[in-house]
Amino acid sequence: MALVFYSLVLDPEPWQAAFAELMPDLDVRVWPEIGDPAEVEVMLAWRPPRGALADMPNLRFLQAFGAGVDQLLADPTIPADLPIARIVDENQTAGMRDYVLAMVLKYHRRLDVYARQQSAAVWNRLPHVDPGERRVAIMGLGELGIAAARTLAMLGFDVAGWSRTPKLIDGVKTYAGAEGWETFLAHADILVCLLPLTPETEGILNAKTFAALPVGAAVINAGRGGHIVLPDLVAALDSGHLCGATLDVFEHEPLKPDDPIWRYPKLDITPHIATISTARTSAARVVENIRRVRAGQSPLNLINRARGY
Ligand code: NDP
Ligand code: OXD
Repeated sequence: MALVFYSLVLDPEPWQAAFAELMPDLDVRVWPEIGDPAEVEVMLAWRPPRGALADMPNLRFLQAFGAGVDQLLADPTIPADLPIARIVDENQTAGMRDYVLAMVLKYHRRLDVYARQQSAAVWNRLPHVDPGERRVAIMGLGELGIAAARTLAMLGFDVAGWSRTPKLIDGVKTYAGAEGWETFLAHADILVCLLPLTPETEGILNAKTFAALPVGAAVINAGRGGHIVLPDLVAALDSGHLCGATLDVFEHEPLKPDDPIWRYPKLDITPHIATISTARTSAARVVENIRRVRAGQSPLNLINRARGY
C-alpha cells in the first residue's frame, strides 16, 4: 500500500527522506506518478486538483499538509465518509506564534511608521506605549491562536481572544460567538485573524468589523484570504480608521505581480509564510496516523466536516 504526496508548493525530497527514516517500508509516490490508484492507502495533500481522489478505492484517509482544510472541503469529489486529518505540530505552532509576535511588535513599536519616516528622511519620535496599554485581540483560539495569545500575555500585552465556544486561558480575556463579538472588537488596537475559513467566517474582516475597531487599529490576517474583504480594508486604511494591515494569505495565491494591492502604502504583504509544516516533524505525525489506521484506530487531529474545521 502506498502514500501519495501532492503539493505544487512543497519540495517532496525532505519528506521522502523523513519517511524513509521513520517508516522504511512505506511506498511513497509523488504525484502524478501514482502507479495503480487501487494501491493508494493515504493521500498527503496540499490543494490537490479537483477529482484527484475520486478513483482511489482503497484510500483509508486524507492527510492535509497544513492546519487549514478549507481547500479540501471545497472539493465535492472527495468521498463524504473519507476521514480527513490535519497537521498539528509544535514547530508549526511555534512558527505562527513567532510570526504573530513579529507583526504585533511591528505595530506596537510603530516600526511601520519609522520605516516610512526613514524613506522620507524624517526624524520624529512617536509617543511610547507600554505593552500593558496595548490591546491585542486574537480571532481563533485553536492550536495556533492560543499559543500566540499566551505568548503575548506573557510579554505583558492586554490580550483578548475570540472563539466559537467559550475558553478559559490564564491572562487572556476570552469572548465567544456573536454575543462576545462587539466587546472583543472594541478591545483590538491590533486585531489578528487566526480563524479557519468556513461559511461562517468567510468575509468576517469587512467594513462593519473594521468600523467596530478603535480608531487607529491595525489588522493582521494570517488565516485565509477569504476572511478579508479587500476593498473594505483599503477603504478603512484610506479613511485613516485603520493605521495599517499585514496580509499573509490571499484568495488567489501566488498574488499576481500586477495586483495593485502590492503597492498599497500602509499594507505589508508576506507570501503565505506565517508558518509552514516542516517535513522533519510533520512526517512523524503522518506516520503515526498510518500506524493508527493500520491498527484499526482513527487518525489523530481529524477535522469535523460538519463544522468545517
Ligand atoms: P483550530 O481548528 O485549532 O482552531 C480554530 C479556532 O477558530 C478555534 O478556536 C475555533 O473555535 C475558532 N473558530 C472557528 N470557527 C469560528 C467561528 N465561526 N466563530 C468564532 N470562532 C471560530 O485551527 P488552528 O489554530 O490550527 O489554525 C487556524 C487557521 O490558521 C487554519 O485553519 C488556517 O486557515 C490558518 N493557518 C495559516 C497559516 C499560514 O501560514 N498563514 C498556517 C497554518 C494555519 P472553537 O475553539 O470554539 O472550536
Ligand atoms: C496551513 C497553511 O493551513 O499553511 O497549514 O496555511
